[in-house]
Amino acid sequence: MTDKLLLRALAGETLPTPPVWMMRQAGRYLPEYRATRAKAGSFLDLCYTPELAAEVTLQPLRRYAFDAAILFADILLVPQALGADLTFVQGEGPRLSTVTSVADLARLGPVDDIDETLSPIYETVRILRRELPADVPLIGFAGAPWTVATYMIAGRGTPDQAPARRLMYSDRATFEALLDRITDATIHYLLQQVRAGAEVIKIFDSWAGALPGTEFAKYAIAPAKRIVDALRAEHPDLPIIGFPRMAGGNYARFAVETGVQGLALDTSVDPAWAADHLQPRTCVQGNLDPLLLVQGGQALTDKTKETVRAFANGPHIFNLGHGITPDASPDNVHRMLEAVRG
Ligand code: CP3
Repeated sequence: MTDKLLLRALAGETLPTPPVWMMRQAGRYLPEYRATRAKAGSFLDLCYTPELAAEVTLQPLRRYAFDAAILFADILLVPQALGADLTFVQGEGPRLSTVTSVADLARLGPVDDIDETLSPIYETVRILRRELPADVPLIGFAGAPWTVATYMIAGRGTPDQAPARRLMYSDRATFEALLDRITDATIHYLLQQVRAGAEVIKIFDSWAGALPGTEFAKYAIAPAKRIVDALRAEHPDLPIIGFPRMAGGNYARFAVETGVQGLALDTSVDPAWAADHLQPRTCVQGNLDPLLLVQGGQALTDKTKETVRAFANGPHIFNLGHGITPDASPDNVHRMLEAVRG
């Protein structure tokens, strides 16, 4: 049996204390991250410099006894590797060249060429597998096709993903061709991460909740299932975590139809409902409100313990319901870990 608690939970084991990691655990709330990022020059330079990307991946593990590391990269590297122009504007977020027509789609490069851009990411994975402690598994990841498409269509983050939903209604053929291209690229990218040493894969569908109920199966479930099936064909035992954020009741259907071993729960999911409806067949991960790591105090301790208790009767990975924010206090992470491990 493996001593990697995260893998045991994903295999369905109910553990006395859940393994713990945090979304965005390598990030701006840590002064050492800000220093390495400054040294790299920009966020994208940091992602594409394997030694520095490995360094920021390891930083949170030196401070905290987390049970997993997550590769430092970004979901928008895949569109960039397909030929989209990508920049991160300080304080504003990503900007990309847009894809809204057949002509735009034709300008994207072939999936076979994406490693020309993405090979440094695989090198980061190889470095991490050498340097991580033996009991800490490495999580690789990619964005889900719908979420990645929302950025490619709008050219930026949007509050309601309206540009992507409008393309879905106005030109379904182009919309679906774009999703297919992203899905193919994502399969290739994730297989390369696993070949380089990633032990778990997480698929981030951060905007799954913006899909109308009737489209959720087509554009959240079906692409995720295609990715899961393709990874399993080469790596039958690979654990995969899905994160259809804000999917509500669709979480249950997502789990059954994609066959993921793990479901990352967003902050809105009631743990009692998830324990009854999701945990009997799938390991759940989550779902503390990240704001509590800004707030701290007794509320942080109480809510952390409440989350652990709610999921104590089945396989559970303790995490936040979304990424830790730059204004969170590093000391509060210690407080959270003490509350989880009691
Ligand atoms: O530690 C980790 O979790 C691993 C690294 C990671 C990053 N982004 C680093 C990052 C992961 C897994 C992601 C995923 C990601 N990226 C998602 C899905 C998860 C989610 O949060 O919903 C999305 C939607 C993105 C796209 C993205 N990247 C945006 C919209 C932004 C700008 C907003 C922001 O938070 O600054 C980023 C930048 C980004 N990605 C940062 C980090 C640490 C901050 C960049 C900086 O240092 O300035």
